[in-house]
Amino acid sequence: MSAKKIVIAIDGFSSSGKSTMARQLARRIGYVYVDSGAMYRAVTLHALRGGIVNPVSGVDRPRLIADLPSLAIGFALQPDGSQHTTLNGEDVEKEIRTMEVSSWVSPVAEIPEVRHRLVALQQEYGRDKGIVMDGRDIGTTVFPHAEMKVFVNASPEVRAERRYKELQEKGTPVSYEEVLANVRERDHIDSTRAESPLRQAEDAFVLDNDRLTREQQLDTLLKLFASRSGADAATDK
Ligand code: DC
Repeated sequence: MSAKKIVIAIDGFSSSGKSTMARQLARRIGYVYVDSGAMYRAVTLHALRGGIVNPVSGVDRPRLIADLPSLAIGFALQPDGSQHTTLNGEDVEKEIRTMEVSSWVSPVAEIPEVRHRLVALQQEYGRDKGIVMDGRDIGTTVFPHAEMKVFVNASPEVRAERRYKELQEKGTPVSYEEVLANVRERDHIDSTRAESPLRQAEDAFVLDNDRLTREQQLDTLLKLFASRSGADAATDK
């Protein structure tokens, strides 16, 4: 079967396991993987480093908006095939995954100017298709015509448990309660913001991952991919 290159959009709540899933899928089918959340995290890291966020007054929007044109956000391919996020040429993959960045990223991602800039960059990545991108608004705003859309569902408790384990493995001192509170807060901000809130695209395939193993998830996605990139895809638009 001669498959055509398509765009795959994977959306879902934080720590739903969608990044791992998207990365595995991209590797299996030889597509480029783009973690759109990492881009919002890189902008947040810049804001934190520059003192543009303040625990009392929040994000200094005018200052952050003024800095946007000078921020170069990208990805650097590693010898093992993985990708590291870069900010003005610096590898910031580790720094963008801290609890501090996690707790400021939703208010930063709410800013329309930040979203417009990052969405334009994301659309550029998808111009030649053959891409798997994960995030919150990929199937709704970034690639509304994506041939394959997946929405990942998982309960806040299961997601917090996963994130807590990840942070513990990295040696980050944090309690499960703090992680659960952060997951719930981000869910709330991400799904109620005015600009591109997290919502399921009407034509998305819903993957409930509380009860599925990684292998079962990948298997489901590969089957979906086979149908969307083959004969079915021609009639999708
Ligand atoms: O997927 P993640 O947890 O790394 O994403 C970090 C934050 O970025 C998340 O709280 C919401 C925001 N985000 C977004 O608003 N839109 C996207 N497409 C991806 C992430």
